[in-house]
Amino acid sequence: MNRRHFLALGGASAVAPFGGRALFGQTTARPLPIPPLLDFMAGDERPIALDLLQSQHDFGTGVKSQTFGIGQSYLGPVIKAKSGHDLPFEITNQLDEVSTLHWHGLHIPGDVDGGPHQEIQPGQTWRPVLPVSQRASTNWFHSHTHGRTARQTHMGLAGVMHIEDDASLSADFPNGYGFDDFTLVLQDKQFDDLGRMTYGLTGDVLENGFQGDTLVVNGTVAPVHQMVPSGLVRLRLLNACNARFLKISLSDMQPLHLIASDGGFLASTVETDSIVMSPGERYEILLDMTNQDRIGLQVSLNGNEGQGDLFEGLWQGLWGTNNFVTAIILTRDPLRPGLQASMPNHLANLPVADPLPAVRKREFLLNMGDEADLAAIATSWGNLCGGGVGMGINGRPMKMDHVNFGVKRGQPEIWRIQSEEQLHPFHIHGCSFRILRQNDVPPPVYATGWKDMVSVQGGWSEVLVSFDHEATKTAPYMYHCHILEHEDCGMMGQFTVS
Ligand code: C2O
Ligand code: CU
Ligand code: CU
Repeated sequence: MNRRHFLALGGASAVAPFGGRALFGQTTARPLPIPPLLDFMAGDERPIALDLLQSQHDFGTGVKSQTFGIGQSYLGPVIKAKSGHDLPFEITNQLDEVSTLHWHGLHIPGDVDGGPHQEIQPGQTWRPVLPVSQRASTNWFHSHTHGRTARQTHMGLAGVMHIEDDASLSADFPNGYGFDDFTLVLQDKQFDDLGRMTYGLTGDVLENGFQGDTLVVNGTVAPVHQMVPSGLVRLRLLNACNARFLKISLSDMQPLHLIASDGGFLASTVETDSIVMSPGERYEILLDMTNQDRIGLQVSLNGNEGQGDLFEGLWQGLWGTNNFVTAIILTRDPLRPGLQASMPNHLANLPVADPLPAVRKREFLLNMGDEADLAAIATSWGNLCGGGVGMGINGRPMKMDHVNFGVKRGQPEIWRIQSEEQLHPFHIHGCSFRILRQNDVPPPVYATGWKDMVSVQGGWSEVLVSFDHEATKTAPYMYHCHILEHEDCGMMGQFTVS
């Protein structure tokens, strides 16, 4: 039987969990939680108040777990903003530990980027105004507190931001939030025997990043289900795992139709069997629910296993043992008409990623630490890396008071990222870039658009990047591995833009 056939089409019967483990006696899929929408499309002048909270949350295991949330018990709202408007925020840290909130994917100056230099002390409020001016895209925000990013993000300090522009608003795309446009935050979790979320650092966890065995969608154990209108449906996917790569496909051998990557729309719709999403990556897909009753989005948690063939798998579709679980089941409501349109062909004018004008090439070698050191760090710091020094880039760990280099605004550069062996998802602040080549082959078509994440494994990846905003010495941008435990352990560096 083909692996994609486990999504049985069960007529009008109750929606059963397909492919997921029968966790904590779960027998039916839970409703998809729709994060509250904060709609700032009109360019509201009032600041958007977000509170970082200590809370408790039931992931669907029947008991409450200790969590952090942004204005709610776990994760944050979805913020919708229009490019060209300033977005004022009031972020209050109600935790009893220092925190930060970084706008991942936003092209904004370093002093409002929310990186490790913009700490918010307990009880304090941070008031950045974000000059949002980039193309339509799905972005996110999460804790970036040096040494605490992994744990704070895992506890729930993350949310999603949609940026729209005139083109995206006038296009024939579904954009009814919670109607035909859904945001799915995908994460892996580990629950103890009582159903409580657990997180603990060991040398091993530092080395591989935290990996849980249970998929949660918007803070609820998968599978979840959602009724959708008859027509086109848009899913905005975020891999918000600390460390896990996720392979995504549809049930019943249906191809995925991808319309956007991290930084905006692709040139045209890309049809493919499956994609691999690194931590931090976003992809948008369209489904045509005009003529089908039900479809399942499937996720394989095996993403980091058999790392030897990630890149092979990206190109040849042969990756891992494909142990898929169903993340979400979408069922058509035939009485609810949706957007009747065909899959869009042309989506955006994507300039050719031309390396010729690049003014320089920089090299980044990602260094894993020594295993014994990592085990010692895990023991001495408890569940924090404490601004760890176990890992580094180009032979040096991240140091808050050391800026690694400076870049000139508007000047394209080639960044070549190398890994000795392990798989790392590399991220750069303040920009979207284009992937040129990875281990000497071009990226898969779906990764040829605007990106702020690039994976590297046992070789190198090259990106073409330039920056439009300023980042000063006191508010530099970061570049780092987005395996959050690696980042906390020092696999990060900082740069200015002037
Ligand atoms: Cu998503 Cu520097 O982070
Ligand atoms: Cu970022
Ligand atoms: Cu890494």
